[in-house]
Amino acid sequence: MILSAQTSPSLVGDIEIQYLHHNQPIYNPNFDPEIIDGLQKTPKTLPARYFYDAKGSQLFEQICQLPEYYPTRTEASILQNCADEIAAITGICEIVELGSGSSTKTRLLLNAYQQLGEAVHYVPIDVSAEILVESAKQLVTEYPTLKVTGLVGTYDEALEQLIETTPPGRLVIFLGSSIGNFTPQACDRFLQEVAQGLQPGDYFLLGIDLQKSPDVLEAAYNDSQGITAAFNLNMLEHLNWRFDGNFDPSLFKHRAIYNKKEHQIEMYLDAQKDHQVSLNSLNLNLDFKAGETIHTEISRKFNWQTLPEYLTQQGLNPIQGWVDEKEWFGLMLINSQKSPLSLPNLTKPL
Ligand code: AVJ
Repeated sequence: MILSAQTSPSLVGDIEIQYLHHNQPIYNPNFDPEIIDGLQKTPKTLPARYFYDAKGSQLFEQICQLPEYYPTRTEASILQNCADEIAAITGICEIVELGSGSSTKTRLLLNAYQQLGEAVHYVPIDVSAEILVESAKQLVTEYPTLKVTGLVGTYDEALEQLIETTPPGRLVIFLGSSIGNFTPQACDRFLQEVAQGLQPGDYFLLGIDLQKSPDVLEAAYNDSQGITAAFNLNMLEHLNWRFDGNFDPSLFKHRAIYNKKEHQIEMYLDAQKDHQVSLNSLNLNLDFKAGETIHTEISRKFNWQTLPEYLTQQGLNPIQGWVDEKEWFGLMLINSQKSPLSLPNLTKPL
C-alpha cells in the first residue's frame, strides 16, 4: 500500500512521486532505533543508508566520476555490451530500480528497451527524494514516451511494495554492487525477499563488484581528491540535521581499509580527540575517546565462480552473466525459481 502519494503539479511529462514511509525511521526526523543501537555498540556503527541525503547523493555522483573509482564505469561498459541482450531476454516489462540515484547507467537499459517499440514504465526507488525527483524530470525530457513512478523509500519498503503489486512482467535492477553494503546475513535476507517478490517470468539484474587486488580496492575508497572522505564525513552532518545533533566533522577522520579475510572494504570515521556529542531528538549523549571509531560501511567483494550457487540457495535462478575484460565487475541476470507449473490440491480425505 502506498501512503501519502504526492504528485507535484510542476513536474514535466509523465511523472509520479510516491512516499513509502510506513512510519519508517528514515523518514521520521525524530527517531531511528537502528541509530540508537548502533551508537551504543563497540565499535559504534551507523547504517550506510545515512550517506544519502541530498548532499551525500551528490558526493556519491562525484565518486562515480573519480579516476580511482572503477565500479561505475566498469559496470557501464558491461551494460553497454549486454543491454540489448537483456531486453531481448525479458521482453517489454516494467523496470524497477532499487537505489536508483541519478539513474545514469539505467539509461543504457532504457535505450535498449525503447527499441522494443513500446512505452516503458520505469520505477526508480531511492531514500533521497531530491535526487529522485531531479532524475525523474531529466529522464522524461530525454525519453518522451517514458512513464516514471518514483518511490521515496528504503529497500525494505520497496520490496514490500513489490510483493503487494503484480504487474505483468517486471525487471528489478540493483546496480553498482550496492548489495555489498549488506552483511552476509542481511544479504541472505535481502535476496530471499527479492526472490519472494519475483513472480514467474520476472527478472532481477544484479551488479556485483568482484574480488581483485587490494591496491586497486583501497585506492577506490581513498581517492586523492578526498571526495570519499567528504562523503563519509557528510553522514555526520546528515545526522546533525535529522536528529538535532552537534557532531563536529572536523574532529573525525575518514579511513578505508580492505579486510582480506572478509573480502570487504571497511569504512570508518575515527575520532581525533576526546569529546562529547549529543543527538537531541534521540536523547543520545555520546562519549568519544581519541582514536575511537564509527564503522559506517562495508562494501563486500564477491567471487564470480561461487555466486550462482549462492544465489540459487537464496531462492533465485541465475540464467546469464557478463563481466568486463579485466573481470573486475559482473552483471548477473536472474529469474524467479517459482515454476509456473501448478498442481491440483488433493481434496479426498485420507
Ligand atoms: C553505492 C554502496 C556501491 O560500496 O562502492 C563508494 C558506496 N562508498 N565509496 C560502494 C561507496 C564509498 C558504494 N555503493
